[in-house]
Parts: sequence; C-alpha cells; structure tokens
Amino acid sequence: MIVEIKDLSVRFSTGRTALQALDEVSFRIEQGARIGFVGESGSGKSTLANTLGRLLPTSAVIEATTFSVGGQAVNQLSSKALRHLRRDTIAYIFQDPMAALDPTMAIARQMRLVLSEDDASLSDRLVGVGIRDPQRVLSSYPHQLSGGMAQRVTIAMALMRRPRLLIADEPTAALDASLKREVMDLLFARCAEIGAAVLFVSHDLPLVRHYCDKICVMYAGRIVEQRKTAALFSSPAHPYSRALLGAEPGAAKFGERLVAIPGVPPALYEPTNQCAFAPRCPDAQIACSQRRPEDLTVDGGCAKCLFPNTAELREQA
Ligand SMILES: Nc1ncnc2c1ncn2[C@@H]1O[C@H](COP(=O)(O)OP(=O)(O)O)[C@@H](O)[C@H]1O
Ligand SMILES: [Mg+2]
Repeated sequence: MIVEIKDLSVRFSTGRTALQALDEVSFRIEQGARIGFVGESGSGKSTLANTLGRLLPTSAVIEATTFSVGGQAVNQLSSKALRHLRRDTIAYIFQDPMAALDPTMAIARQMRLVLSEDDASLSDRLVGVGIRDPQRVLSSYPHQLSGGMAQRVTIAMALMRRPRLLIADEPTAALDASLKREVMDLLFARCAEIGAAVLFVSHDLPLVRHYCDKICVMYAGRIVEQRKTAALFSSPAHPYSRALLGAEPGAAKFGERLVAIPGVPPALYEPTNQCAFAPRCPDAQIACSQRRPEDLTVDGGCAKCLFPNTAELREQA
C-alpha cells in the first residue's frame, strides 16, 4: 500500500471564516495502481493532491485518523523527513509546466539539480518522454520551449528519482487536444516501467477512464463514490456520478451533462449534517437533508448516498 487515508479533513482558516475543503475523505492506493479523481471545479481535488505532500499554505488545518504515504505518517513528519518524502517518494506534475520550471535556468541545469547526471543520461531521459532533439532542449530555457515540450520535460524530471507515487493535477490542461493522449501515454508508460502509482486529477473523463483502474468522484470536499472504472461507467451508484457520466451508461460527454445539473456546488463553511448534493439532487428525499450519508458497499467500491438507484444498494440502506 503506497497511500492509506482515513477520514482526512482539511480546513482553510482565513480571518474569521473557515472553509471545509476536504470533509472526511478515505481511500487507498496500492503499489503501482492508477487512481483518478474527478468532480467539478472547487470540489477539493487539488487540495487533496497537495495535502498528500503537505504542500498546503499555513492557513490549512489537516486532521485525519490515518494519513500514510509510503508507510510514513505524513501529518507527524519533521520538516526534514517531509523534504525526503517529497524528494524520494512523491513527485508532482501540475497544470502549467512553465510555472513548474525555473525561467532563469537552462533545462540541463534544472535537471541536474534533481539528479546529477551527464549529458548523455539526461538526453536519454528526454528521448524517453518523446523529445526528438534532446540536445537542443537541454540547452534551452523554458520560454524557448512549447507547452507540450515543457510538460514532457517536467514529466522526465518528476520521474528522475523513481518516485513511488506520481501526482498529476490536470496535467493536460495546457496541452492541445492532439497532444493530450500522446503525453499521457508517455506518462503512464514511464510510471508503469518504474512501478510508480499514479494519482491523476482531471476534468477529462474519457482520459481518466482510459488510464485509471479506479475512480473517485468528488463533490463538495467528499468522495461521494469510489469504484473500479468499469463498474462506475456501467452502473454509477451516486446521483452525482450519474449526472457526471450522462444518463446513458458509457456516455462520454463529460462537460455537457454537467452543466445540465441545476444549481451550483455549495461553499462549505462547516461540515454539514446532510448530503451536500441534496439541494441539486433529482432523487432527493426529506431524509437527505437530515442525515449525513455514510459509505455503502457497491460492486467494485462504495458510494455515499442514502437512496442510491441500484437495487443492490437499496437493500443495504
Ligand atoms: N489556499 C486556500 N485558501 C482558502 N481556500 C482555498 C485554498 N485553496 C483552495 N481553497 C478552497 O477549497 C475548495 C477546494 O478547492 P480545490 O481543491 O482547488 O478544488 P478543485 O481542485 O477540485 O477545483 C474551494 O472552495 C477553494 O476555494
Ligand atoms: Mg484543481
């Protein structure tokens, strides 16, 4: 097990108000597994990704029953142990590769700060992420590279120290549609080679479906459903997942169905004692605004809903 998280909550305190960005999130990632996180903007995906490496501002208060990455209790690590965790166990790839690279340094020099290697080895690494003119790229500054090229470089750098967990937060957001698949193919292939698990955050549901074994659907700081990929697509249990996936099982029109859900997600100022989706849910009952749904077991995972639509779930509820 590379990640084990139980009842993880994160609150941002700003002045007099506090915002509950994560509300009792629980999940695990096995060695080498590929897990996807999907959900509307503001649902807490980036907060979760950043919490794993404790990359949060000081205004964040983290609470958890279990918070383990690479066998270490992340919430109790000294700053030195935390640096080791970020250097050796976890690697990140973010949305904007230009922001991840240092604009004042040539690529070769930046790569050597990660791992001191000769030019031939660095070239090999760049070839490994599909760069055909590695010598030119090594001597380039970030502004001289295209977005796709820069993201390939950040992938190569992220994998240099053979992390056990790669966290990729919307890594394709800055790439042309034609490049997305190519860059993601490389990312997942390289991770498979070194046995790294991947936590993939994306708005692009078909992409998550293609690459991930398991998917967590987030809503208002909670994981409302987590399922094996095929199970989620064939029989989404939570009404929010169904709305995301579209009415037809297997429909891949992610964004289109999403805008058809009336209302907006709540800003959570405190943990609520109701289902956070209840105000927007087409199937909501009175109990949904009186009780907090716990996880119910479903085929290939679990869902947090008092009245899910599948027969199997209704029996347990
Ligand atoms: N540094 C921060 N300070 C205060 N609130 C934050 C901070 N970062 C994120 N939030 C809030 O936490 C919630 C979740 O945000 P985020 O994790 O970025 O969602 P997502 O990545 O799913 O779009 C949002 O309401 C956002 O405004
Ligand atoms: Mg985000």
